Amino acid sequence: MSNGASALSGPSVVLVTGGAGFIGSNFIRYLLEKTGFEGRVINYDSLTYAGNLMSLRDVDERFGGSRYFFEKGDICDYKKVEETFRRYEVDAVVHFAAESHVDRSIHGPKVFISTNVTGTFNLLEAARNSWGGRKDVKFHHVGTDEVYGSLGESGYFYETTPYSPRSPYSASKAASDHLVRAYFHTYGVPVTISNCSNNYGPYQFPEKLIPLSVLNALEGKPLPVYGDGRNVRDWLYVDDHCAAVWQILKQGRVGETYNIGGECEQQNLDVVNGICEILEELYPAKDNRELKKSAPAVRRYSELVKFVGDRPGHDRRYAVNCDKIKNELGWSRACSYEAALKHTVQWYLQNMEWAESIRSGEYLKWIGKNYGARDVT
Ligand code: NAD
Ligand code: TYD
Repeated sequence: MSNGASALSGPSVVLVTGGAGFIGSNFIRYLLEKTGFEGRVINYDSLTYAGNLMSLRDVDERFGGSRYFFEKGDICDYKKVEETFRRYEVDAVVHFAAESHVDRSIHGPKVFISTNVTGTFNLLEAARNSWGGRKDVKFHHVGTDEVYGSLGESGYFYETTPYSPRSPYSASKAASDHLVRAYFHTYGVPVTISNCSNNYGPYQFPEKLIPLSVLNALEGKPLPVYGDGRNVRDWLYVDDHCAAVWQILKQGRVGETYNIGGECEQQNLDVVNGICEILEELYPAKDNRELKKSAPAVRRYSELVKFVGDRPGHDRRYAVNCDKIKNELGWSRACSYEAALKHTVQWYLQNMEWAESIRSGEYLKWIGKNYGARDVT
């Protein structure tokens, strides 16, 4: 699927869906602060449990009302989506909004279908209807490597690897990728897609492996490791992901898919033990009063590791080949895993207020104060 049609050299109004989530908030900050982009960013987010405007407090203070705007809205609400397209004269979309956690999709798949499939469909419809046949616009869809299924001991996911999703989450994301491609082929909507490996970094909701392990360790809670802990993920620092998405938005060939990976395969148990070592260096267990209260017998964070039952349908190994984006767009990851993981752990240590707020719902009060009650429904 390729036609090499128009590339978007400089969007002026970027609609970021899911901008209050982990990657979306990092992307908005990256776009406004690190790229030289001079236009406006509209953050369209319904603020589910995973969305938190505190993650963009600094951005709002610097750019709010001039170059950064927040619209509380559901991507399943077609009318609101189309209205937003027209009101802001959107000429680029970066679509992050999704239900994103595999474990949640196992316990309650329904919302994954509505948000990830129907929500993406609505956005595509709004793009088609608002943009008509315009070629100077772009719709970038953020996908996951999990659509490719599970690898054995060797091999990699390529852009050409057949889809084989195995969780409700990855199946819903696969469906959304297919819709995006269909809108390119059928209606000529200028789209690009990226399929990306596991991200880590600041502002990640503490249900995912890395932030959950950091916060549980600090509180002296067990560090749950599924199965034998030997499942492999390819870890990508979120800033490297943001840089790749921006590169694709500007220069990616319309109709094309680009894999993005960290080229950094790690077994889960090694990730958790690595976090424990970093914590031992930054905030030794013996000095941690909270830990002493909840787990008095524990001397080192690594003693908190607890093997638990495996996730149903747990994919064994992910590993992404990203030669295409490297060769075509000149992207490559800039961050080393060791340094970026340490930076991430440090960030959580220094931002416990954020972690507390996102887990307690306390942040809703902050939003109420700053955005008015109408936004906090
Ligand atoms: P996240 O769960 O942290 O954030 C999702 C955001 O979307 C939240 O702000 C939430 O409020 C918003 N949202 C959810 N449903 C919505 C709806 N119906 N309408 C409007 N907004 C809604 O997710 P994330 O980790 O930042 O992931 C962002 C995207 O990247 C997702 O599409 C995900 O599939 C993809 N992705 C994530 C990873 C990863 O490691 N986190 C890896 C590959 C791909
Ligand atoms: P996760 O962060 O949920 O991302 P994904 O499922 O999208 O890869 O999980 C990363 C890996 O860590 C995955 O193999 C499941 C495993 N895992 C645990 O072992 N314990 C946990 O508590 C969590 C949340 C995940």
